[in-house]
Amino acid sequence: MQENFSLKPYNTFGVDAKAKYFIEVQSLEQLRDSINYAKDHNLQILFLGGGSNILLTKDFDGLAIKLNLKGISEENLNENEAAVTAKSGENWHEFVMYTLEKNYGGLENLSLIPGNVGTSPMQNIGAYGTEIKDVFVSCTVLDLETLELKTFNLDECRFGYRDSIFKQEGKGKYVILEVSFKLTKKDHHIKTEYGAIKTELENLGITSPTIQDVSKAVINIRQSKLPDPKEMGNAGSFFKNPTIPLIQFEDLKQRFENIQGYPNDDVVKVPAGWLIEQCGWKGKQIGNVASHKLQALVIVNATGNATGKEIFDFSTGIIDSVKEKFGIELEREVNIL
Ligand code: EPU
Repeated sequence: MQENFSLKPYNTFGVDAKAKYFIEVQSLEQLRDSINYAKDHNLQILFLGGGSNILLTKDFDGLAIKLNLKGISEENLNENEAAVTAKSGENWHEFVMYTLEKNYGGLENLSLIPGNVGTSPMQNIGAYGTEIKDVFVSCTVLDLETLELKTFNLDECRFGYRDSIFKQEGKGKYVILEVSFKLTKKDHHIKTEYGAIKTELENLGITSPTIQDVSKAVINIRQSKLPDPKEMGNAGSFFKNPTIPLIQFEDLKQRFENIQGYPNDDVVKVPAGWLIEQCGWKGKQIGNVASHKLQALVIVNATGNATGKEIFDFSTGIIDSVKEKFGIELEREVNIL
């Protein structure tokens, strides 16, 4: 266990906040021991996965536990499906690459998402027309009160858009240890409906794409507009895309004829990146913080020296502008600590 430990390498924003105590755990036994230690010493716990969805606005006066449980296993389900299970500390993208090397289909559209496997169910990660709920079987968690294991199946996780039970009633009650996915071994469902994928495949000269081709296209698209956290600190989309009533959307359409929206029954999902750009924030820098020049929804630690507080204040500025211009209240997707 380390004391007064900088979490800078453990959050993709690269914010230099300190944890009073820090420990990295490789096994369930070490994890239980660490939790018991924190309970015995009345310390709050902060679990760290890949650190790709957290903004540390202050030092943490407790025990930060970095989850480093590793391992991948698989089980044959039937002629066309395998259940592949990864422990929480596996890097998400490396796991996706592993499944594609085995020619297992289902995760290709989720290539290059930062973070670890263990945090993927928390916010039902999604991109390019796929969310993990589409291939999710179950996850095993540790109940923080009883320190016993529990399994959540698909229904029990109550997945929604960037949402799950682990962000709602289950918040702070469990730590996810491993996640199982149901993947295809052949007859893969190739998903290219998401506009940019088709165009990218055309650019690559591919007419009948494999799952590996789809992954390549997604990687190219992401690399072309999303900053690499290793080069410039960020946590992907900082806000959720807001959902507004159809009537409000129609009213906005009268005033802003270019507004985009994806209707679903009587609500419409509006791209937050567009709203933010319209308010003049795209590429704008204040001090050490900026909205990314190619994707306004991503806030970046532009100089590498931003504090969490500066990033938080910058995001408040964006929320205020969007509220004033469009009457829409953006919700942060990133967890604020
Ligand atoms: N747009 C703008 N200006 C911008 C950014 C976007 O006008 O600066 C417009 C685009 O032109 C496009 C629309 O907004 O018409 C949507 O943009 P994009 O396809 O880039 O996707 P997004 O809605 O901004 C979501 C996810 C991303 C995911 C992409 C691709 C959320 C909050 N974000 O972004 O997820 O990679 O779709 O599927 O749902 C993440 O969660 O960290 C993340 C990066």
